[in-house]
Amino acid sequence: MPIQWFPGHMHAARRKLEETLADVDVLIEVLDARIPAASRNPLLETLRRSRQRPCLKLLNKADLADPARTAEWIAAFEREEGVRALAVCAKNPADVRRILPACERLAPHRSEPTKPLRLMIAGIPNVGKSTLLNALLGRKAAKVGDEPAVTKSVQRYDLPGLRSITDTPGLMWPKIEFDADGYLLAACHAIGRNAVAEEEVAAFLAETLLAQGYADRLTARYRFDPTGMNGDEIVEAIGERRGCRRKGGELDREKAANVLLQDFREGKLGPLTLETPASRAAMIAAHEAA
Ligand code: G4P
Repeated sequence: MPIQWFPGHMHAARRKLEETLADVDVLIEVLDARIPAASRNPLLETLRRSRQRPCLKLLNKADLADPARTAEWIAAFEREEGVRALAVCAKNPADVRRILPACERLAPHRSEPTKPLRLMIAGIPNVGKSTLLNALLGRKAAKVGDEPAVTKSVQRYDLPGLRSITDTPGLMWPKIEFDADGYLLAACHAIGRNAVAEEEVAAFLAETLLAQGYADRLTARYRFDPTGMNGDEIVEAIGERRGCRRKGGELDREKAANVLLQDFREGKLGPLTLETPASRAAMIAAHEAA
């Protein structure tokens, strides 16, 4: 699958992240709760460990994710040394209010007049980092947009109560370790619309939904039973049901793919999670065995 993502200036970005981490007490890593592993950037984890910084993993967009699976991911993350995890919806003020107390618990020696609590927020594009930052600051500091974009500068903002937060726009890129990650990131729109063929992404998404036990969601929305079908067949069946046809009457696969992707991205199939700790481990094991 040809993926054009953000190559960036990786060495410069790595140096900048290292420098920034040196002056923070807690790292807030924003993940997409629908793909908690695929939306990580492993470099951040490596740097955090080498600096021995505690980390709050925010499983954002929890409103779009399957709550039982979010709980599984939180338990899995919290088995890691120095890590706490919270499920949040950046648009829900009550969820946002839980973030700073959780950071304080990770660095109880800070938030004093001589030792302000220094936070850093990082995450790959489109996980909701700007929305969270704005919600934490109570004002519009970062631009929110659905199209992944890259900006460069690191910025520090003051928060109430002897705390500050550093934003790292443009320093994080999706790390596509496995082909499956590329598709998952594209399905959740963390890589741009034109980076991968939408038809391939939709077929992969359809197969993943089936493999993750969500056939009933497809049935409920599109009124057919996808059991036993492959991804392309599911997308075709969606196209049939939705009347996605070209002028001559031929099935418009691109349109059908867009129906599924848009419905998924907008949460119209209900709350869904595309990977579990167990499915992730199985995928990695299969990859290593190949
Ligand atoms: P980024 O900085 O990490 O790139 O992400 P950003 O905040 O720009 O958010 C990307 C999109 O995700 C935005 O959608 C934003 O509203 C949406 N989003 C962020 N957090 C959540 C969340 O917890 N739940 C849901 N459902 N969506 C979230 P958009 O379409 O560009 O904007 P909007 O029309 O939703 O405002």
